[in-house]
Amino acid sequence: MSPPNPLVSDNVASHIVSLLDRLHEASLNQESGLTKADYEGSVIHSNMKDKFIALEQDKCHFVYQLAKAIGAKNIVEAGTSYGVSTIYLALAVAANIKATGGTGTVIGTEHEAEKAAKAREHWDECGDVVSKVVDLRVGDLRETLKEALPDTIDFLLLDIWTPMALPTLKLVQPKFRPGSVVIADNTIGSAAEYKELFDYIRAPDSGFTNITLPYHKGLEMSVYSPK
Ligand SMILES: C[S@@+](CC[C@H](N)C(=O)[O-])C[C@H]1O[C@@H](n2cnc3c(N)ncnc32)[C@H](O)[C@@H]1O
Repeated sequence: MSPPNPLVSDNVASHIVSLLDRLHEASLNQESGLTKADYEGSVIHSNMKDKFIALEQDKCHFVYQLAKAIGAKNIVEAGTSYGVSTIYLALAVAANIKATGGTGTVIGTEHEAEKAAKAREHWDECGDVVSKVVDLRVGDLRETLKEALPDTIDFLLLDIWTPMALPTLKLVQPKFRPGSVVIADNTIGSAAEYKELFDYIRAPDSGFTNITLPYHKGLEMSVYSPK
């Protein structure tokens, strides 16, 4: 028997839980019509312009639980799309602020202005608990993440085209604290494409410890543990 949805256990408003169920379903329906070729090479940008490609629901539940467990208050999300995983991250940040006070933000990043607008609609539908926590940066994240970041980033979600993964990490890493976490999606399914990231983050002196979690196509969890 599967455990109950952690959002339900945490008394997250039912309209948010229902919205997320609907968005995950819409994402899966779109993906069932895609082939591996749709994700490859330069066509990925045009092919994915109107696609969710949301992080799967079980991975989102894990990310939510993990962000709560480490008390993450400042999070960078590389790849926001229509804002599905952002909702989980924002709920975790809101819960952490409620538990221990202070402030926090999820910095979302999305290249496509139309997707960004739709993401904002979803967050508005959730209400202030989500919409007030998100700082969405529209444009190429290799530029938008050069703008001011909080002093400390506790959590980085890499759910982005693989060539962007390492440049993103390098922009955010100076803000990490010991115990900051990096989650990267599809690290088994796209292992070859992640070579640059793996060479960097898995190097013996990288300052990170790494494991691959056995989710669909793999989910890498790296903990910043500088010597
Ligand atoms: C896999 S989707 C993100 C899904 C999202 N995390 C979710 O769970 O709903 C990746 C997104 O990254 C965006 N993206 C790709 N390259 C980017 C870049 N250089 N800067 C900002 N966003 C980018 C794409 O437009 C796409 O919407």
